[in-house]
Amino acid sequence: MQNIIEIIKEKLCDYSKKSFEKDGYDFWNNHIKYVFKHSHDMAIKRGADIEVCELAALFHDMAMVADFGPRDEHEIYGAQMARSMLTELNYPKDKIDLIEQCVLHHRGSKNDVRTTKEEQILADADCVAHFDSIPSLFSLAYNKIGLPMEEGKEFVKNKLTRSYQKLSREGQKELKERFNTIMNVLFVE
Ligand SMILES: [Fe+2]
Ligand SMILES: [Fe+2]
Repeated sequence: MQNIIEIIKEKLCDYSKKSFEKDGYDFWNNHIKYVFKHSHDMAIKRGADIEVCELAALFHDMAMVADFGPRDEHEIYGAQMARSMLTELNYPKDKIDLIEQCVLHHRGSKNDVRTTKEEQILADADCVAHFDSIPSLFSLAYNKIGLPMEEGKEFVKNKLTRSYQKLSREGQKELKERFNTIMNVLFVE
């Protein structure tokens, strides 16, 4: 019997493959695998429930990947997907509740109040993941949006700065050195 992480990961990778074939963006390889890794590492470091953090990472953008519901409400539709899939797999109800809250409150732009370690970990891991896929941010700026050189640079710089500012105090502390190095290497004045 496969474990629950493998079952959900397989489902997500199926959605990701289909979405990649449709619009060329590889959600799993460009974003979610990094969120998953950081969620795992932060859960250990901050003493949170590892499995809950890993599952929350797998579900957090799943509605977007599966093209289920409007993109701007992907946290609501993703939370629904988490509840229904995990309930079907007889996953413990208290953990489903926690994962649902993580997915609902993962978006840094929404100023959500996060009351559990697991919710804060997912929000932080989602921001830190942007620093693992900087080439995809440049590709978005130059290829997809079609910005000229300087504006594209500014776009990526602002995006990374915002991601850093959205982190919790603990998250900023963990990323500080790497953030400064990246900024100094990429954006020399
Ligand atoms: Fe998201
Ligand atoms: Fe995300």
